[in-house]
Amino acid sequence: MPRRKSRPEKRRRRSIIAFEMIRLDRTSTEPLHEQLFRQIRDELKSGRFSDGSSRLPSSRTLATDQGISRSTVRLALSKLHAEGYLRSKSGSGTFVANLLPETFLTADRPKTYEPIQRPVRISDRARAIPDARVGNQFDLGATGAGPGVSLVASIPAVDEFPIAVWERLRAQVLAKKGVNLLRYSSNRGDADLRKAIAAYLCDFRAAQCQPDQILIVAGMQQAMLVSAMAVLNPGEAAWIEDPCYQQTRRTLSLAGVKIVPKAIDTHGIVIARSPKEPLPRMIYVTPSHQFPLGITMSFQRRTDLLNFARAHNAFIFEDDYDAEFRFVGPPLPSLQGIDNASRVIYAGTVSKILCPSLRLGYIIAPEQLVDSFVKIRSAMDQHSSPIEQATLARFITEGFFLSHIKRMRKIYAERRDFFIKQFNELLGDRFTLQVPEAGLNIVAWLKREEDFPMIKRITSEIGVRPSALSFFCIQAKLKPAFVFGFAAWTPTQIRESLVKLASALRNHDRDLGYGRQSR
Ligand SMILES: Cc1ncc(COP(=O)(O)O)c(C=O)c1O
Repeated sequence: MPRRKSRPEKRRRRSIIAFEMIRLDRTSTEPLHEQLFRQIRDELKSGRFSDGSSRLPSSRTLATDQGISRSTVRLALSKLHAEGYLRSKSGSGTFVANLLPETFLTADRPKTYEPIQRPVRISDRARAIPDARVGNQFDLGATGAGPGVSLVASIPAVDEFPIAVWERLRAQVLAKKGVNLLRYSSNRGDADLRKAIAAYLCDFRAAQCQPDQILIVAGMQQAMLVSAMAVLNPGEAAWIEDPCYQQTRRTLSLAGVKIVPKAIDTHGIVIARSPKEPLPRMIYVTPSHQFPLGITMSFQRRTDLLNFARAHNAFIFEDDYDAEFRFVGPPLPSLQGIDNASRVIYAGTVSKILCPSLRLGYIIAPEQLVDSFVKIRSAMDQHSSPIEQATLARFITEGFFLSHIKRMRKIYAERRDFFIKQFNELLGDRFTLQVPEAGLNIVAWLKREEDFPMIKRITSEIGVRPSALSFFCIQAKLKPAFVFGFAAWTPTQIRESLVKLASALRNHDRDLGYGRQSR
């Protein structure tokens, strides 16, 4: 029988320490091998490399880098071996010892200065951002959601993202455009992508625009920041919806804008204002599907808003973040599409359609604002990744974008129906669902307001973490409710989470009942 060729064992790549900071003094009386030994030892003592996976460069490399002989290097290394700093693995090289003895690590800690007693001076700008997170809470991103089944609002089904197609298209654009995608590129965005987005928005959102009005940005948040910085001076007023998407407040604070919260009624943002309220230079709205309440702005309110903006020389920022996912009735055209006075700054994002990590979005800017927007983007971070932009252009022009939207709309509609049915069955005694016509979130109002603190505690204990509606409120005093997301999880996962929540609440009631009886 022919012997099978044994496959070479795959060698694990390990990071090689560069030792860039080693400086050998040829005028010193201390021998070079001693200097080398001492400097490597001091670097290892810092403890940064003591996880056993850091490899030393070969003696040849060290000798070449330092301009010394290999025998000098070998002398230094053998001393480091003898003192327990290094270990050799045959065929793999020389590594930092798995566990450097504690005494080594603590022996010569670099001198630290006396801690400064004065508080660190933080800018007013940083302090003004309404964000209570600290430390590694930022690692979970703005939604605060880890990978589990949390029913956190606003998360799309990223596991349905067609990675294989994306990778294929990316390889194709790289092969075709090569180094052109590696250079600094247009501050307005990839020309093919702007054309494709303009065509998509005119077709799908009844927008009125030319590709020259399209700017590619790093998501909705950057669209807000660029717009606010171009349109408002620090301290000037922007109206925002209350309750509102939390990142809107954070972003507009960063732009130094005076935020004026405006209530929401059944038609959308309330335009009426008290004489004391400053007139807005910009009005932020989510007309397709108000976040988080889910209201679709009525046609009358849309025209009133446009008339108000025209009369007071204000711009409207239309955040159209998830208009693609409408489940009841025909979609209303975008506000931009019915604006004939160039008052609307329209912005969309691929965060819900595809996935949020791409950080890609788009603006339709009124013509007179285009250059100012581009100037700000250029000063901010220049542009988004040309490779991802070119891939997205291809993804749209080859029809994958629309077919993905259609497929996801079907999946989300099924998950939404399933969520509503299961939720009402399992939790209908405690909550009333407010079912919106669109979007990936559902508000559940508490039937007994006094249950709020208990439900908030239990949800966070069991890892099912809908957001409290109050989290999104600025001045609005709304009845207690939670905002649930349903889109990112399969029906089985949704049911498991709802069962978990329902039984945790039942257990709580039972414990309370026993407690009462025994008192
Ligand atoms: C109202 C609203 N706008 C925009 C976004 C997404 O913004 P980005 O493109 O920055 O991810 C979200 C995400 O939840 C949202 O709720």
